[in-house]
Amino acid sequence: MSSYCHLVRAVVSLCVLSHVVMVSGQICRTVTTFNAGLTPAIDDYPSRLKRQPAALLKEDADVICVQEYWFENDLAHMLKAVSSKYAYHFSPLHTSISYFPTLSRKYFFPETACNFADVVHLYWRVLPCARSRGCVPLLLQSPIEAMYCAVSKCAYFFKTLSEDCLSCISLTATSLPSLIDACKPVYYAYNNSLNGPGLVLLSKQEILSAEYHDFFPGRELTLQRGFIEAEIKDLGTVVCSHFSAIFPYYFEYDLDFANYVQQQQAEMAVIQSRFQSRDHILLADFNTGPQVETASSEDRVLKGKAPQNFQMWIAGGYNVTYLEDDGRCTSCRDNPIFDNYIHPNSVIDYVMFKGDYTAQKAERTLDESPPLSDHYGVRQTLCKN
Ligand SMILES: *[C@@H]1O[C@H](CO)[C@@H](O)[C@H](O)[C@H]1NC(C)=O
Ligand SMILES: *[C@@H]1O[C@H](CO)[C@@H](O)[C@H](O)[C@H]1NC(C)=O
Repeated sequence: MSSYCHLVRAVVSLCVLSHVVMVSGQICRTVTTFNAGLTPAIDDYPSRLKRQPAALLKEDADVICVQEYWFENDLAHMLKAVSSKYAYHFSPLHTSISYFPTLSRKYFFPETACNFADVVHLYWRVLPCARSRGCVPLLLQSPIEAMYCAVSKCAYFFKTLSEDCLSCISLTATSLPSLIDACKPVYYAYNNSLNGPGLVLLSKQEILSAEYHDFFPGRELTLQRGFIEAEIKDLGTVVCSHFSAIFPYYFEYDLDFANYVQQQQAEMAVIQSRFQSRDHILLADFNTGPQVETASSEDRVLKGKAPQNFQMWIAGGYNVTYLEDDGRCTSCRDNPIFDNYIHPNSVIDYVMFKGDYTAQKAERTLDESPPLSDHYGVRQTLCKN
């Protein structure tokens, strides 16, 4: 072929290229949300921790919002394995975008969830109180009930613990050895800080700015809740979060809500008012979802989770297409991690967006077997108009 032809072809393809860009004016990116469930309280933790980085690499989305990476060591392990692909990352433990301080850099300021004073308080005040009020025996039947008992009857003593220590205990309360291992300062392993809200944002595109915000600043929470707000190149504002789970008992002692449905509504209100006038993409475990009684398959029959709250997202103008596009449970009865108890199907993980985007089909992802988590992920390609 002559060089003239090459030139013609180059010009033609350039024209086609610029034509496409000008006509559609769209840049499309794939986003994923995934609750990793990385607490020793959820089955198969060590093996899931080991298998997750490869799955995140294979996921190959532009942006991933990961929930429930609670421990610094787990986060360090994951970031080391995936940062070749996701060069940009951020969590509340990061000192700046893509900068996760390693043990050697933290040498002079080592941290664990519970510090030495916490351990003293725990043994001499909290545990004796919980024991004398009859909360300790409940631990075997229902850790959540035990936590509720202790927090409601020994609130005064709980206030002496640091927030990270309290959260760490709540997250690992089902197993004493893992609690001690994960939360307590061990002389040689002062390097396992708690990522209190459990959030991590991974991105292939440049993260231009990122901040973490608590939903209830200045309050001490048993389970810390908040959101990462990031500006991502070509995508705009991305919010990564994990809204409160609807536990049957309410165990926050420093907030004024009567139950978790109310607390979750207050968290929603924080997001909806803060981003009211901005296009944004919200990736999260929303811990709410609609009831679906009849569907084309068993795994699309869903039990509602605080369905009134899900309606409030829709009423707030958020677009979510997963239920029509795919609709399979993300928290599923047949996930072998739930072997030991009855667990209804629900969809509580979503990609939601508000503003001038066009979305391609959303689909379930990260649902390999054996499972990576007690949740499956949701993936969607969004185009900014
Ligand atoms: C932290 O310390 C533990 C125990 O010494 C070690 O196994 C782990 O690799 C360390 N983590 C990091 C990120 O250095
Ligand atoms: C939601 O997004 C889809 C896909 O882009 C679009 O077809 C639909 O009209 C949108 N719905 C609303 C209510 O904005």
